Amino acid sequence: MSLSREQMLVEMGISPIWILRDGEQSIAEPVATAPAHVAEVIPEAAPIPAIQPVSPVIATPIAVPQGHFLQGAVDALDWPKLAQAVSACRACPLCQQRKQAVLGVGDLNPDWLFIGEGPGADEDAQGEPFVGQAGKLLDNMLAALDISRGNKVYIGNAVKCRPPGNRTPEAMELTTCRPYLERQIALLKPKIIVLLGKVAVHSLLLDDKSLASLRGKRFEYGGIPVVVTYHPAYLLRNLPDKAKAWEDLLFARRVLNEVVAPELPF
Ligand code: URA
Repeated sequence: MSLSREQMLVEMGISPIWILRDGEQSIAEPVATAPAHVAEVIPEAAPIPAIQPVSPVIATPIAVPQGHFLQGAVDALDWPKLAQAVSACRACPLCQQRKQAVLGVGDLNPDWLFIGEGPGADEDAQGEPFVGQAGKLLDNMLAALDISRGNKVYIGNAVKCRPPGNRTPEAMELTTCRPYLERQIALLKPKIIVLLGKVAVHSLLLDDKSLASLRGKRFEYGGIPVVVTYHPAYLLRNLPDKAKAWEDLLFARRVLNEVVAPELPF
């Protein structure tokens, strides 16, 4: 049984319901003074206030490490060869206990690229990212935006192999796996990247500031805008922050709209 959009928003813990004002190009946002967990209900007939332009791109603070041995090996691969390389990879100790490497899933010509941390037990078994409880929440978050995995959306991870016991990937593992992620991004050419949680931020932006301090800002990777939000597994443990994640997704869509049609007043 598929859920209605309202049911998905309730499922995400976002209630009262947010109303998209005018199809794809208008986005309901909370008034600035509203508490973060309270979403504003906007009558559909209400006048649409202009949304301010997104703040300028903020440069990533840490330089990309150079010269990792995988870098040169993968940066000319096409998608099928990249998939083969990932599935045969033995570049770090994570390969020893994995059932399989998990490259990612979705549209190979995506608008959206969501990047999580790494496969868990379910993902290791099924070979697809975000198939457990956190994945269900991610799917609901996507559905609330009227998008879905495979339809203009690609979902991947910072590391492709399951860390034993679902521990956090170590810095060396992130660095080793990063060329695969970089090659995925180069081939997918998404219009926006959404980083799910601190590990994805650490991997791509090489930034280890708190997630709270990075939310609501527009970063950039290789000319592609990057937005940060909480990891769905964190949201399952911290239900009130779901509303903040919803704000982040609306912000991401506003950034995407600016990229797609910069002249329109979103
Ligand atoms: N958490 C992640 O970060 N990625 C997955 O694929 C599953 C859970």
